[in-house]
Amino acid sequence: MQADYNKSSRNQASSLQRFKPFIDAAVAAHTSDLTESRGPFGIADFGCSTGLNSSDAVSHLIREVRAKYASSQSCSSVLVVLNDMPHNQWSVLFDFLNGDQRSFLKQLPGVFAVTSGFSFYEQALPPSSLQIGISNICLHWCSQLPTKLSNHGFASFGTEEEQEAFRQQAARDWGSFLEARSKELVRGGVLAVNMVMAGPASDLLTDAIYQAARVLLNRGVIDSEELANFNIPMCFRTVGDLKEPSQYKRLGLELLRADALPQSDTVYYEDFLQHGDSDRSGAGLETYFQSSLTPERSDKDRETVSQQMWGELQTLAASDPERLRYSFNSVSDVVRKL
Ligand SMILES: C[S@@+](CC[C@H](N)C(=O)[O-])C[C@H]1O[C@@H](n2cnc3c(N)ncnc32)[C@H](O)[C@@H]1O
Repeated sequence: MQADYNKSSRNQASSLQRFKPFIDAAVAAHTSDLTESRGPFGIADFGCSTGLNSSDAVSHLIREVRAKYASSQSCSSVLVVLNDMPHNQWSVLFDFLNGDQRSFLKQLPGVFAVTSGFSFYEQALPPSSLQIGISNICLHWCSQLPTKLSNHGFASFGTEEEQEAFRQQAARDWGSFLEARSKELVRGGVLAVNMVMAGPASDLLTDAIYQAARVLLNRGVIDSEELANFNIPMCFRTVGDLKEPSQYKRLGLELLRADALPQSDTVYYEDFLQHGDSDRSGAGLETYFQSSLTPERSDKDRETVSQQMWGELQTLAASDPERLRYSFNSVSDVVRKL
C-alpha cells in the first residue's frame, strides 16, 4: 500500500494557494480566438496525482475562465485532461472524482474529464487542442536519473560533477516540457507552472531521510547495494533558469512572468511539534525507496522496510525536530503560445 497522496499533500496544497494568482494571470493573458473553436474548451493539469489538489486547481481555473468569458458560450463545455504517469494511483483518482464533493465534477456543471497516463515530457495531447495548461509541484521529478550519486541519495549532497549533471537534466527536461506544450497549445493559449525552487531549503530534511536509510543499513535491514541504489531523480530550478528567453522563442512561446513565490515552512515540522508525528508526504520518495530495494524482496517486505525507514526518520526527528524543518520554496511562470 502506498501512502495516500490526497491525505499527505498539504505542502503542495499550500503552495497551490500561492500559485493561484499565476493561474489567474494566465487566464487574463489567454487570447486565443474562441469563435474559431467548435469543440469544448480544453484544459489540462499535468501531474494530477490522485485528484484532491488537482481538483482545487482545476475548479479555480474553470471559474476564472468562465468569469472572463461570461458573455460567450465558449466555455459552457469544458474538457479537462488529467495527466500523470502510468504508475499513478488512477483508481484513487477515479474514486475521488466520482465520490468526493471536492471533485470539480461535483462542483461545476458542463465539465468533463479524461485521463492521460503518459509522461508530460512528451507530447500527450493533439496539436493545437489545449487552451490552458497548468502544473503544480511536479517538474522536480526528472525524466531520468542523470547520474549515479556516489555518497548520498539526493543531488544537493553530490559531487560538483554530479550536481552539474542534475542541473543539465533539469534544463533538458524543462525544454522537453515546453516543447511538448508548444505543440499542444492553440495560438494564444497559455501555460502556468509552479515548481520547486533550487536552494538549500530542503537539505536538512533530505539528509535526515537518507540518514534514516543508513540506519537501516547499519541494522542489517537493507544491504549496501540497496542503499547505493537509493538515488532520487529530483531536480530544482531557479527564477533565472525560467527567465532565459531563448528557450521560449525557439518554440514560438513568450514568457509573460517568472517569479519566486513567498516561502512557507512545511507541515512536516509543524506536525511534528504539534503531534510528535509528521505528514508522510513522500509518496514519490517512498516509491523510489521501495524501487531501490532488491527485486528478490516481496511487495509486502518492501512495504515493511519502507515503513521502517519512515519510522527511523521519526526517531531521528524526535531527538532533533529541526531536521524536519523545510521551507517549501517554489518558482512559477506563465507562458503564452504566439
Ligand atoms: C508532488 S505530486 C503533485 C500533484 C499535484 N499536482 C498537487 O498539486 O498536489 C507530483 C506528481 O507529478 C507526477 N509526475 C512526475 N513526473 C511526471 C511525468 N514525467 N509525467 C507526468 N506526471 C509526472 C507524479 O506522478 C505525481 O503524481
